[in-house]
Amino acid sequence: MEAKNWIEKTVAFVKETLQNAEGGHDWWHTYRVWQNARTIAATEQVDLITVELGALLHDIADAKFHNGDEGIGPAVARAFLLGILVEKDRTEHIENIIRNISFRTNIGSNSEKFDSKELAVIQDADRLDAIGAIGIARAFNYGGFKNRSLYDPNVPANLNMTKEEYAKSSAPTINHFYEKLLLLKSKMKTETGKKMAEDRHSFMEKYLLQFYKEWGGH
Ligand code: ADP
Ligand code: NI
Repeated sequence: MEAKNWIEKTVAFVKETLQNAEGGHDWWHTYRVWQNARTIAATEQVDLITVELGALLHDIADAKFHNGDEGIGPAVARAFLLGILVEKDRTEHIENIIRNISFRTNIGSNSEKFDSKELAVIQDADRLDAIGAIGIARAFNYGGFKNRSLYDPNVPANLNMTKEEYAKSSAPTINHFYEKLLLLKSKMKTETGKKMAEDRHSFMEKYLLQFYKEWGGH
C-alpha cells in the first residue's frame, strides 16, 4: 500500500521535474529504464521497491546540466524521498545508487566503491536504453543536437579517449557505436540484463552492416 503510493508520487515528481529535459534524458528515458529494471528485477533477489524508486530517480538531476555537480542528483532524490516518508536506510541506499550510476561512462572513474544488487539492476537497465533500436535513435538524436555528421570514412573511431577528449569529441555519430555502444554488452552485470543486451547488440551490428552497404550504394 505504502510502496504503491511511493511509486505513484515518484512518477509524478519525476515527470514534473523532467518536463524541460533534453530528448535523451526526458521522462520517457526514465520510463524505459524503469521498465527494463522491473524486467531484470523479476529474475534477481533484490528489493523491488528500491530498484523501482532508484530507476525512477536515476536521472533526476544530471550533472551535465548542473555545472558538472555530481552531488545534486543524490541530494534532490534524498530530499524528495524523505519528504514522502521513505525510510532513512532505503533513502540512503537509493542516494548511493544515484551517485554511482552517474559515473556514467566509467572512463577514468575514481568513484569510491559502492556496490549493491539493486545498483547492478538499475545500471543494466540504463545501459540497455543506450543500445538496440532505442540506443540507435538516441545516438543520432544526440549527434543531431551536437550538429555532428552521421558518418565520415576518414575519421576513425578512437578507443583510447580520456574523459576530457570524450566530452569534447566532435566525431561522427557512427564512431560512438565503436567508442561506447558496442562495448556495453560486456559490461552487463545481471543474467537477464546480459540476455537482453545480446538481442539489442546484434540488432546494432545488423544495422551497421546495412548502413555501410547503403553507404556504398548497394
Ligand atoms: P547516459 O545515457 O549514460 O547518461 P550520455 O548522457 O552520455 O549517457 O548520453 C545520452 C545518450 O546520448 C545516450 O544514448 C548516448 O549513447 C548518446 N550519446 C552520448 N554521447 C554521444 C556521442 N558522442 N555521439 C552520439 N551519441 C551520444
Ligand atoms: Ni539514464
